[in-house]
Amino acid sequence: MKTKVLMICLGNICRSPLAEAILKSKVDPRKIWVDYAGTSGCHVGDAPNPRSITVALKYGMDISSQQCRRFSTSDFVEFDLVYAMDQNNYLDIIRLAKNNSESAKVRLLLNKVDLGIREVPDPYYGDGDGFENVYKMIDAACGAIAKKLY
Ligand code: 4NP
Repeated sequence: MKTKVLMICLGNICRSPLAEAILKSKVDPRKIWVDYAGTSGCHVGDAPNPRSITVALKYGMDISSQQCRRFSTSDFVEFDLVYAMDQNNYLDIIRLAKNNSESAKVRLLLNKVDLGIREVPDPYYGDGDGFENVYKMIDAACGAIAKKLY
């Protein structure tokens, strides 16, 4: 059976589409399934932000056909691990958990890497550099997660 991993951010158009593509690129698709969702529903159906698409392309990944969806409580049943980009996303998801086994699935993405920062900052209102930084943080975290999942 595959381990199912869900990447979560707020809008589901900047960080989590990158996290999905990056982790997918590091794991065996026969063993690990990766998906992405947002805690807010304000961009449902949208493609990723053009700045995420650009930084992903720079590193050889095409995320332009991804489509935003909102986190659903059924994701607690569907997924084994739920990685939140920041503390707000984490708390928003934890609040929806019905029991300890659901809340135990939720983690902060940067928890297991020592980058001197605990959250992947929201790059939406910043400039292009923010996306490059976010890419590198997510890449480091996904490297650690991929090693653990293998
Ligand atoms: P994300 O970034 O959570 O990394 O997708 C954001 C995208 C959109 C908005 C906020 C954050 N927004 O307010 O529309």
